[in-house]
Amino acid sequence: MGNVSTLGLQQPLPEEYLEATEAELDERIARARRALGLDLVILGHHYQRDDVIKFADHTGDSFKLAAWAARQEQARYIVFCGVHFMAETADILSRTEQTVILPDLSAGCSMADMASLEQVEEAWESLTGRLGPSLIPITYMNSTAEIKAFVGRHGGLVCTSSNAAAAVRWALERGERALFLPDQHLGRNTGVAMGIPLEQMPVWDPGEGLGQGVLRSVVLGREGRLEWGGQSWEEARQARLILWRGHCSVHQQFTPEQVDYLRRQQPGIRIIAHPECSYEVVQKADDAGSTEHIIKQVAASPPGSIWGVGTEIHLVSRLAREHPDKTVLSLTPFACACSTMYRIDQAHLCWSLESLDRGQVVNPITVPEQAAADARLALDRMLTLK
Ligand code: 13P
Ligand code: SF4
Repeated sequence: MGNVSTLGLQQPLPEEYLEATEAELDERIARARRALGLDLVILGHHYQRDDVIKFADHTGDSFKLAAWAARQEQARYIVFCGVHFMAETADILSRTEQTVILPDLSAGCSMADMASLEQVEEAWESLTGRLGPSLIPITYMNSTAEIKAFVGRHGGLVCTSSNAAAAVRWALERGERALFLPDQHLGRNTGVAMGIPLEQMPVWDPGEGLGQGVLRSVVLGREGRLEWGGQSWEEARQARLILWRGHCSVHQQFTPEQVDYLRRQQPGIRIIAHPECSYEVVQKADDAGSTEHIIKQVAASPPGSIWGVGTEIHLVSRLAREHPDKTVLSLTPFACACSTMYRIDQAHLCWSLESLDRGQVVNPITVPEQAAADARLALDRMLTLK
């Protein structure tokens, strides 16, 4: 299969939307929503801005939103307020006659771009050639449709931060080892929580260009910090979970020093981190989990609780506002925002909805049929995980 591109041409936002005030946009979005009625469903990820997420019919983490998209029977249009890989997933899981729209096509994800099909094919050839064919691929939801399709074709599955352990277990029941794409941190944090030693979780570093991929070891160094080393193919035979060297540039900004600092400043604080944070941060946290898990934990805690949260700032600020009886702090004093999630704004949402109301679809996401069929295999395996 060649390259799969679902990035249509981004049409320029018409001037009138740039000039409209927030209040006007609010009113126009509400009007278009009413006019579209049951033909429309708006899904919103927890990292969306407040002025956008307030219009979502359903909010959730990646897993919950994918499951919603798979269940939408009635809506002709699914407007996805999130990033590109989420809208692709919704397109793959929804029915053919439904249309998925990403209000701004430039809302991508740098992590998803860290594993290209060519790089993954090269790694696959090397790893199965050297270590044997018993390798099951797992890809984090935060990957392109073509990587999900590769994984589907090779007997693997998709996972999210809320079911990564079940996915790794599923894979290791079926193969000698698993390849975890593209977030090394989620892979490592999940493996460690399952009792897989670091020595059995080497990292495939795809390098700068094709033909430069190498397997590297990651071991525990001084003061509980990870250190990179080399890896011989002989040593690699003990590998159980091979991690891809990808990361989230937002979550990678959190540090173990920030955790130590908050613990000193706020005695009794509970630290909760998203598993896209580094091993060092997650090891120091009291709990780790998906955005939905973080929301539930904060909501369930007694009044007066103090939380230090390691995830995207829009969610942390919303939690602080929604729980005035608790103290909710970001791990970092610097706003840790996902700039691509932020691209979905009122103006783009309004433009998408008013266009639909005029019978015109702007910024649709359509995954080519064959890739969608292969990727659906990997997604369906995830949706049936116990
Ligand atoms: P959740 O699945 O925990 O919402 O995380 C998704 C994510 O990383 C969005 O970038
Ligand atoms: Fe991608 Fe990180 Fe933004 Fe999530 S928070 S969309 S992983 S860049």
